Amino acid sequence: MHLHRYEKIWLTFGIAMLFVFLIVLGVGAFAQGMQPPGQQHSGHGARVTVNPETVESTAPFNQLGLRKIGENEYDAYMLAFAFGYGPEKMEVPLGATVHFHITSKDVVHGFQIPGTNVNMMVVPGEITNLTHTFTKAGELLVLCNEYCGVAHEMMHTRIIVK
Ligand code: CUA
Repeated sequence: MHLHRYEKIWLTFGIAMLFVFLIVLGVGAFAQGMQPPGQQHSGHGARVTVNPETVESTAPFNQLGLRKIGENEYDAYMLAFAFGYGPEKMEVPLGATVHFHITSKDVVHGFQIPGTNVNMMVVPGEITNLTHTFTKAGELLVLCNEYCGVAHEMMHTRIIVK
């Protein structure tokens, strides 16, 4: 009698544990689905997704560069790729506030302007946003700081502030 009762208890316990295990797995998978990797880039605002394969011919990334949106305020649409950036060269008026919107056509790249707080991770399929005001005239170097392949060290562009 006793043995039978214990068996029943253990069987119930075993089934209960199996359910707990499955629920934990399910919740874990669900949480991962809600938060795909690549969260740690320094983008601000809502996550917007783009198709890296068609981004070049899709607005707003079919027209790269500055777009005036206010008094010395601009949107800058840029594209990172192995191994460079579009547009090739960008001129920014002195004192301009620029809202960068940048994405990648292929792999993860970086977008860093040494000497400023501009430092972004550029992820294919996502738009990274960052705002910077250019208060000093001169030529700024933009560097890729994420290893992206054989010519990673060569990947750069320039922003001319004048
Ligand atoms: Cu692009 Cu390193």
